[in-house]
Amino acid sequence: MLDGKRILLIIGGGIAAYKCLHLLRLLRAAGASVKPVMTRAAEEFVTPLSVAALAGAPVKTALFDLEDEAEMGHIELSRAADLLVVAPATADLMARMAGGIADDLASTLLLATDKPVLMAPAMNVRMWQHPATRRNLSTLRSDGVHVVGPNEGDMACGEYGPGRMAEPEEILAAITALLAEGPLRGRHVIVTSGPTHEPIDPVRYIANRSSGAQGAAIAAALHALGARVTFVTGPATVPPPPGVEVVRVETAQEMRDAVMAALPADVMVAAAAVADWRVASVSRSKVKKDEKGPPRLELAENPDILADVAGLSEGRPRLVIGFAAETENVVENARAKLARKGCDWIIANDVSPGTGIMGGAENAVVLVTPEGVEEWPRLPKAEVARRLAARIAEEFAE
Ligand code: C5P
Repeated sequence: MLDGKRILLIIGGGIAAYKCLHLLRLLRAAGASVKPVMTRAAEEFVTPLSVAALAGAPVKTALFDLEDEAEMGHIELSRAADLLVVAPATADLMARMAGGIADDLASTLLLATDKPVLMAPAMNVRMWQHPATRRNLSTLRSDGVHVVGPNEGDMACGEYGPGRMAEPEEILAAITALLAEGPLRGRHVIVTSGPTHEPIDPVRYIANRSSGAQGAAIAAALHALGARVTFVTGPATVPPPPGVEVVRVETAQEMRDAVMAALPADVMVAAAAVADWRVASVSRSKVKKDEKGPPRLELAENPDILADVAGLSEGRPRLVIGFAAETENVVENARAKLARKGCDWIIANDVSPGTGIMGGAENAVVLVTPEGVEEWPRLPKAEVARRLAARIAEEFAE
């Protein structure tokens, strides 16, 4: 995935520095070579010995190290990489980057580089929300610095809010997207996948048999062509592919919110088997079996995520692709769905029980576009995904 890529990892001085140990493992497992640099403050949080052991390379810390200057100067070090990653990017490090200050090795490398820079901010929520940090963030963004996170959640300082460093898996996804090569490089694709769970009460829910296999395969194939993929998945049985940004949801409403939050995108592939209905009023406590007999479940209609995205008047992805799982009149129903949902393509398949497609390893699909109907042979789901990704790439070919 990152074979042969060279990453200069600058570890800042924050409690989140410990997550860099896991990030180092992920980067090396993905085939990257990593040169670690630590600020003085970072050494208070993790030891250079641990970092060096996991990086498989010595840690650089000091600016004026004559031996190093003879071996590799700071200018060369800052350029002999495909990407500079700053994690955690503390408020102080961000301020020094934004101000062009070069008073230690880390900040000097960041000023001297001609390579892309990705930073993963991490700090106390008040520091993140402070006008000074907001200003620095916008300066850094306009300087072309890429940003991943921070996330919202419980913080080591005991407060709650935005400021937690992005998880190592998310940082890896951002790195692979930045270093991607392929026809979909620079394109953002949202893929929905898996079933949704619609709660009845705290222990019961309505679900369907979707495994999420086709959606995961599509996300992997698009990622392989260089796209940045946001993978919005319900509780699927097949794990998400590596290298994509995973957003886990349970219900259709959560899936819709996650998709809208992930926009803008160039492409949306709606491969999820979204429940059409949810229980209108979810019971707060477990519904008891009693003499009143079985409960009546009143259902309400779920939002149609595909139709909502296809119908956006502003910020609509250029290509919106839906699925149609049918048990009869596959092409006819798919054509009708194309018009009803307002999407650009429909991938239709016959999911009658005899076909073994739902939850199986293969798929036989028909691609329906306004121009016509294309029948694909029965293929492994990974191959269907590759063909679809290649067709999408054709649409974006200059
Ligand atoms: O209407 P139907 O469920 O057959 O449409 C299937 C297509 O619409 C799939 O692409 C599915 O992901 C999408 N869909 C959706 N939101 C819903 C229902 C379906 O995005 N609530």
